[in-house]
Amino acid sequence: MFGRWLKPNGANRSRTDTGGPGHLIDLRNVVKTYQSAAGSFTALKGVNLTVDAGEFVAVIGKSGSGKSTLINMITGIDRPTSGEVFVGGTPVHTLGEGRMSVWRGRNLGIIFQFFQLLPSLSVIENVMLPMDFCNMYRPSERHARALHLLEQVEMADQAHKLPSAISGGQQQRVAIARALANDPPILIADEPTGNLDSKTSAAVFQLFENLVNAGKTIVMVTHDNDLARRATRSVIVSDGEIVNQYLARALPRLSLDQLITVTRQIDRLTYEPGQPIVRQGAEAEYFYIITKGRVEVIIDQPGGGELIAEVLGEGQYFGEQALLGGGVRNATVRAAHDNGVVEVVALDRNEFHALLAESEGTRADVERVAAERRAANSDARAALT
Ligand SMILES: Nc1ncnc2c1ncn2[C@@H]1O[C@H](COP(=O)(O)OP(=O)(O)OP(=O)(O)O)[C@@H](O)[C@H]1O
Ligand SMILES: [Mg+2]
Repeated sequence: MFGRWLKPNGANRSRTDTGGPGHLIDLRNVVKTYQSAAGSFTALKGVNLTVDAGEFVAVIGKSGSGKSTLINMITGIDRPTSGEVFVGGTPVHTLGEGRMSVWRGRNLGIIFQFFQLLPSLSVIENVMLPMDFCNMYRPSERHARALHLLEQVEMADQAHKLPSAISGGQQQRVAIARALANDPPILIADEPTGNLDSKTSAAVFQLFENLVNAGKTIVMVTHDNDLARRATRSVIVSDGEIVNQYLARALPRLSLDQLITVTRQIDRLTYEPGQPIVRQGAEAEYFYIITKGRVEVIIDQPGGGELIAEVLGEGQYFGEQALLGGGVRNATVRAAHDNGVVEVVALDRNEFHALLAESEGTRADVERVAAERRAANSDARAALT
């Protein structure tokens, strides 16, 4: 496991050979450069993104920031120039066109802004099409299944109409039923409500919420910040880069520009269960944010024993006390034994101080947390003696 790129403290710098239980969707260093007559344009600049089963992720960002390009990497509609895309463990970036379309048809439901129903087929025939294409369900079952899906989106009574005879909102509901035809675990939607009025958008969004509650995983691009807030998580795309989600959660008072800058500066590190990340008494070099797993904050006892002062999880940070104070670690922090590989992002001392100098609010937040922890630790130490 500990191969190349070892940091002095033994952390593994690489994201690609960490192995272990995977994320449902895992984009690793994805770069997409378009070539056109006007020259080349890099729409994704080394994007890392993970999505776990059961999440409802909203992808937001300005027009032209790279949201659709990102989505097209997940669906395999387009290929990365470099980097890797894993969906349900399948290396999507390596699939040939033939295998890709069958894989996609069975594993993903895809919903676009413009519903893309086939105009010459009736509503129910549109919903049956993916089952026919991927040869899923017995032919004799397909009609009943399609009707059942149309019932779920309240469109069963229009089943025999042509798409041109129903409204935009109704067409989108049919498109959702079609996306669900093969019962895929993942739904990918690119501005599914972009062409709908606000009331119809809300209804479609409600349908998505129901699907997430029923166990689906959804990644949805949207321009609508109100809808995005109702998702379980937002991913911000800016100029072909993704703001590190844990950074945004841990330091919520940073501006979007600051988040992008810091996202570029951070190092990603992984630690095996039980492995120390910082050691009591050592000089402090980094500020850490946990992006996966749990860590234990340990105060070493004079007699050689140890006290677990705190357990921290995803989106929480550590290492701030020594950077703000005397520069020497006053506790050991290690990857918890019981919870798999721990992933963190680390910001070095100088970058950390530069960030606090730029964001007063963040400085106040971090100093408050440091003070609370210092008080709690000295209580714990007092209890030890
Ligand atoms: N086929 C292509 N050839 C060249 N450039 C492209 C191509 N597709 C997209 N781009 C460029 O890549 C950038 C990102 O495009 P993308 O469609 O991903 O943006 P978006 O965030 O989805 O925008 P919108 O919100 O308007 O849909 C844009 O600057 C766009 O012009
Ligand atoms: Mg787009």
